[in-house]
Amino acid sequence: MTHVVDQVSLGAIVQVRDRLLEIQAKGHKVLRLESGDPSFDIPVPAREAMEKALRDGLTHYTASTGIPPLREAIYRKVTTENGLKVPDSDHVIVTNGAMNGLNIIFRAMLDPGDEVILPDPMWTEIAENIRLGGGVPVPVRLRENEGYLYSPEDIEAAITKKTRAIFINTPHNPTGMVVSKSTLEAIAALAEKHNLFLVSDEAYEHVIFDGRKHVSLGSLPAAQNRTVSIFSLSKTYAMSGLRIGYMVTTDELLLERLKKLVRCTINGENSVTQYGATAALNGPQDFTKSMAQEYQMRRDMLFSALEESPYVKPFKAGGAFYIWARITPDWPGYQGKTDDWSMTNYLIDASGIGSSPGSAFGASGDGHIRFAFSCSTEQVREASSLLPSVLKAAKK
Ligand SMILES: Cc1ncc(COP(=O)(O)O)c(C=O)c1O
Repeated sequence: MTHVVDQVSLGAIVQVRDRLLEIQAKGHKVLRLESGDPSFDIPVPAREAMEKALRDGLTHYTASTGIPPLREAIYRKVTTENGLKVPDSDHVIVTNGAMNGLNIIFRAMLDPGDEVILPDPMWTEIAENIRLGGGVPVPVRLRENEGYLYSPEDIEAAITKKTRAIFINTPHNPTGMVVSKSTLEAIAALAEKHNLFLVSDEAYEHVIFDGRKHVSLGSLPAAQNRTVSIFSLSKTYAMSGLRIGYMVTTDELLLERLKKLVRCTINGENSVTQYGATAALNGPQDFTKSMAQEYQMRRDMLFSALEESPYVKPFKAGGAFYIWARITPDWPGYQGKTDDWSMTNYLIDASGIGSSPGSAFGASGDGHIRFAFSCSTEQVREASSLLPSVLKAAKK
């Protein structure tokens, strides 16, 4: 039998990035629309707090679940802004990015062979972390003609005796779909009916457009005591390289297990980053709003460009910073088979534009392409002006 770690991929996006960097090293211009890394600088109070922490010598081990002022700041934020009902800051665990939270939650929750339902397409790391936790990912297809709705009916049809949890991600990577409150309520009702956990990945909670309000699944009455909420500072405060996130649960057994797992994995998040995160959470929050406005402007630019382009049918994202597009059957690169790498490779070769092949996001992603608009506005503008003509020029 294949070792579980051998089932984990090294990542398609990494392959695209390596090719772009190679081209760049040869002196060619590249446009970095392949991966979701915010172009913004971190908030000034966060940077200043980190500089001060370094000067003050706050570089020693910290409590493995996070420094108390940070857990207090998170507790205040999740109970006021997200509406989570949490007894105290002891139910907050600071992690090394949401990724670390996603890695340990499935280990804490699953017995071997337990099933977790997740959307397809989905950021691959979710299925991989479910497998690493001994579980079996059970994909539920999101359909273009339903606006990539995460359908409660389809979720219920996928529930078996082995189902342990439903995974939800809103706003969603890679489609940019935002799950409505009524759909979240229906999913919470299903979890209650079948006694399942809910894992709610809210990494993009602040990247949301057109006046939509992010709803935290764990704030809904039916979900309250069965949800593990996972958050990230990577997108909210552009702190991606500083690697910090957090998770919240009211389930005491899970909490105990998670505490053991952070102790035996990261053994406490980087101390300096934690002081920066505390300042970011306690500081003015207008940063997140202006960032979302800028992202929305980029989304509009890129979406219009893709609408004008042949061979792609883009979906207008309600949140997150991606445009997901279906590649049409007349795409010259197909030559009888749906090979979405052909469009990604063509765009790199023809114009230095990065993207991600849809198949990197699960079986139903085949025949799609994802463009990230988290790189600079200038790069998004340039890619938008090039895409229609570059795609038109693809040889039949
Ligand atoms: C859906 C989703 N969850 C979690 C993460 C991980 O974020 P972090 O940088 O906090 O590990 C990402 C990053 O791209 C993501 O797309």
